[in-house]
Amino acid sequence: MRHARQRRYLMCPPTYFTVSYEINPWMHKDEPTDTARAVAQWENLRDTYLRLGHTVELIDPLPGLPDMVYTANGATVVDGIAYTAKFRFPERQPESPAFEAWLAADGFAIAQAEQVNEGEGDILFTERAILAGTGFRTDHAAHLELQETFGRPVVSLHLVDPRFYHLDTALAILTDDHLITYYPGAFSPGSRRILERLYPDAIIAEEADALHLGINCVSDGLHVIHSPWAVGLAEQLRARGFEPIAVDTSELLKGGGGAKCCTLELREAAWSAAAGPEDEEDVASPRSRWKTTTAPA
Ligand code: ARG
Repeated sequence: MRHARQRRYLMCPPTYFTVSYEINPWMHKDEPTDTARAVAQWENLRDTYLRLGHTVELIDPLPGLPDMVYTANGATVVDGIAYTAKFRFPERQPESPAFEAWLAADGFAIAQAEQVNEGEGDILFTERAILAGTGFRTDHAAHLELQETFGRPVVSLHLVDPRFYHLDTALAILTDDHLITYYPGAFSPGSRRILERLYPDAIIAEEADALHLGINCVSDGLHVIHSPWAVGLAEQLRARGFEPIAVDTSELLKGGGGAKCCTLELREAAWSAAAGPEDEEDVASPRSRWKTTTAPA
């Protein structure tokens, strides 16, 4: 049985969305963008979250910062602490203080990052460990800073394919504790072996889905919001007891992002307790915490 957990998300309307610079292989300055279409798709994504009972907070978009719609990069927020982003490219650097100000005003304790990191683009949380990407954007040194900030173990994963420049383009957390999906081709051989060891029951995503950023999906534990192109992944999710919901974010894909990129989860101090076990049986034996419940709902 899968359970949805109520989430609190931070989003930013794509009022100033366009592609005016190229910092990942998906971005092409010469390809026209349709801001009104981006806004309509973004509104549909927000409304989908609201319909599912989640809370959506909004940060004001700033002119000249077209990538601010990708709020996942704005910080990492867990246990009531916001670890600030420090962007690799100058084009995005002014976003960080804006996110920090919003999070401080909302009551989060601010942990100022010294190391380059792009928030939940590269930093994903499960109860067991923080999965952190490096290779393109987030510096490996940030992983140690993360570990010290949150007192949670970090598993470093090395990204090797520039199309999957952020961890969340190649790997998604499906349940708070144990279930993930990922595309192996995005990772170094060593990192692939780590994922196989730690998550033997992961859903292995196919290249066709990965190539449309289909893995950039958002799960509340039951519903998974994904791109309509991620046909194979949707099928696999259904077989594992999830309810996949296709939401078109194709205009925002021109900036190199999908649903997950547009969504920053805000986790309060009580997050771990609230997350709880996914399944009663899994608490019984510690060993079983390393396994996945595969029975469909
Ligand atoms: N254009 C943005 C960049 O390259 C896209 C960010 C996508 N966000 C994400 N969480 N993967 O920085």
